[in-house]
Amino acid sequence: MAVVSGGSRGLGRVLVERLLAEGWQVATFSRKPNEFTGAMAQAHPETFLWESVDLQETAQIRQFTKTVKERFTAVDLLVNNAGVLHQELFLTIAPQKIDDLLAANLTAPVHLTQACARLMMRGGGSIVNISSINAIRGYRGVGVYAAAKAGLEGFGRALARELGPVGIRVNTVTPGFFDSELTSDVTDRNREKIQHRTPLGRLGTVEEIADAVLFLASPQARFITGQSLVIDGGITC
Ligand SMILES: NC(=O)c1ccc[n+]([C@@H]2O[C@H](COP(=O)([O-])OP(=O)(O)OC[C@H]3O[C@@H](n4cnc5c(N)ncnc54)[C@H](OP(=O)(O)O)[C@@H]3O)[C@@H](O)[C@H]2O)c1
Repeated sequence: MAVVSGGSRGLGRVLVERLLAEGWQVATFSRKPNEFTGAMAQAHPETFLWESVDLQETAQIRQFTKTVKERFTAVDLLVNNAGVLHQELFLTIAPQKIDDLLAANLTAPVHLTQACARLMMRGGGSIVNISSINAIRGYRGVGVYAAAKAGLEGFGRALARELGPVGIRVNTVTPGFFDSELTSDVTDRNREKIQHRTPLGRLGTVEEIADAVLFLASPQARFITGQSLVIDGGITC
C-alpha cells in the first residue's frame, strides 16, 4: 500500500490516480477535501483513504499514520509530496512564515517518514521525497523553501544508509517548474524565461514528474537508493 501526502491536486493527485489504477491501496491527506478526493473515495471505498491533516500539526500526522496502520497494517511506499511555496525576499519575510515553511516542507515529511518507515520494517519498502531544483540552484525569494528542500535531500541520503539494510530504499525526485496551483502566481513572462533557459525548450508536465516518482518506486529501481533524480528539461545542467 502507498501513502502519498498532498494527494488532492497537482502531482499528488496524479500519483494517487496512477497508483489506484495500478491496483495499489492508497492513503492520502490534505487540509481540505475536494471533488477529486470525494470521487476517489466513492470509486474505491476499499482501497482509498483520505483524511484531513495539516502539515503544521505533528499530532495530526501521527494520528493519520495510526489510521493507516489500523486499516492497511503495513506500508510499502511513501511519497512525501505535499509542499508549500511562498516567495518573498529573505530580509522581509516574517519569523512565523519562516517557521511555517520549514515545518511544512521539512519537519512534517521527517515525522511522516519516521511513522511510515516503522510500518515498512517487516516487508521493506520505498520512500520518495519530492524536492525542487531550488534545493540545488540559487533563486531569489525562495531561501527558506530552498533550505527546507535541500534539508529533505540530505535527509534522504542519510536515511538511505540507515534503512538500506532493512530493505527500505530512499530516493528524491527534484523537479523543475511544472504547472500546478503551487506555481499559479508565476507570471507568463517568467514562464517564458524558464522555457527559454530550458535545453529541451519547454516546461515540464506533472505526468513527467509522476513518471520519475513511479519509476523510483518500481522494481525497475530496486538497486537505486540514496539518489536524487532531477527532472527539469536540463535547466540546471
Ligand atoms: N509545481 C512546481 O513547479 C514544483 C516544482 C518543484 C517542486 N515541486 C514540489 O512538488 C510537490 C507537489 O507540488 P504541486 O505543485 O503538485 O503542489 P499543489 O498543486 O499546490 O498541491 C499541494 C498538495 O499539498 C497539500 N497541502 C498543501 N499545504 C498543506 C498543509 N499545510 N497540510 C496538508 N496538506 C497540504 C494540498 O492540499 P490542501 O491545500 O487542501 O492542504 C495539495 O493536496 C511539492 O513538494 C512541491 O514543493 C513543485
